[in-house]
Amino acid sequence: MIDEATAKARYWAEEPPIHAHPDAISLIQHYRPDLQDTEAMIPILKDIRLKAWKIKYYPCVGLWQFFKFGMTEMSIYPEIIERLKQGQRILDMGCFMGFDGRKLIVDGAPSEGITNMDLEDRWFPLSYDLFKDEDQFKGEFFGGCDINDEGLFGEGSIHRHRYDMIYIGYFIHLFPPHKQAHIINSLIQMLKPDSGSMMFGNTAGTAKENGYRMKADFAPPVRNEKGEMERPDFVFHSTKTIVDLLSEAVKEEKDKEWEYTANKAVFDTDTSPTKTFALHFKDAEIVELNFCMKRK
Ligand SMILES: C[S@@+](CC[C@H](N)C(=O)[O-])C[C@H]1O[C@@H](n2cnc3c(N)ncnc32)[C@H](O)[C@@H]1O
Repeated sequence: MIDEATAKARYWAEEPPIHAHPDAISLIQHYRPDLQDTEAMIPILKDIRLKAWKIKYYPCVGLWQFFKFGMTEMSIYPEIIERLKQGQRILDMGCFMGFDGRKLIVDGAPSEGITNMDLEDRWFPLSYDLFKDEDQFKGEFFGGCDINDEGLFGEGSIHRHRYDMIYIGYFIHLFPPHKQAHIINSLIQMLKPDSGSMMFGNTAGTAKENGYRMKADFAPPVRNEKGEMERPDFVFHSTKTIVDLLSEAVKEEKDKEWEYTANKAVFDTDTSPTKTFALHFKDAEIVELNFCMKRK
């Protein structure tokens, strides 16, 4: 983990970009009838965001990227809502404060079908401070869940083969490139082994055809083959390399019949305004990358 000053120089925007994200504002207004005035919202948002930042200096926290609902930009969004209305269940893995689940509810999904899960459970009380929906939410929050831990998804786990849909928003790029196929495979173990079950999400992508690798400055150093400590690799996937990754992840499975889609969208520069950020990633040709794998 980098120190706070370096993280702040690169990944910190003081003011919430509320004008660029009317969806996030209407979400808060929906849950907080007492908080309709956007100006009055700002100090509350800044206070909650600062508490989240002190837990972990994630770029998506410092740069307010959690204000963006990645799922709503996917063409399958109406299908997701429809399936939830029919009683299916979605797992939002790496849910952070559960913004995406709350957006699904506002867009018509019953809260009963929503499972939020994260390694870190200290995000959840912060989300209740903001949305004040503890009494209405009938879904689930599971904290302390590490996708690296086989107990989470292996034989005997309550999460094994439980979910119709799994969403991973800004999640897969947190893991070193050589471990990502294994992580995807672990997530798939939580999906129902039925036709139509699907896992989808978004990640930091690149417009370069074969992806782009650089050293991750936000992850703890790891020992390389020569025994030296170095920053782990960070990969920006392309539409091609993400599909390669998803298919690699299930190639040993008996059931290999999947449909893959991936597309890129413009990276939202409203939430990445720092010059140091732009300089650090200048060669990456960053795009937003959306992907989906669905069982045939
Ligand atoms: C970059 S945030 C993405 C938040 C949200 N999904 C979004 O799209 O804005 C990554 C989230 O993954 C969680 N996370 C990190 N490592 C994890 C792990 N090994 N297992 C489960 N969750 C993890 C973090 O606590 C954090 O909430």
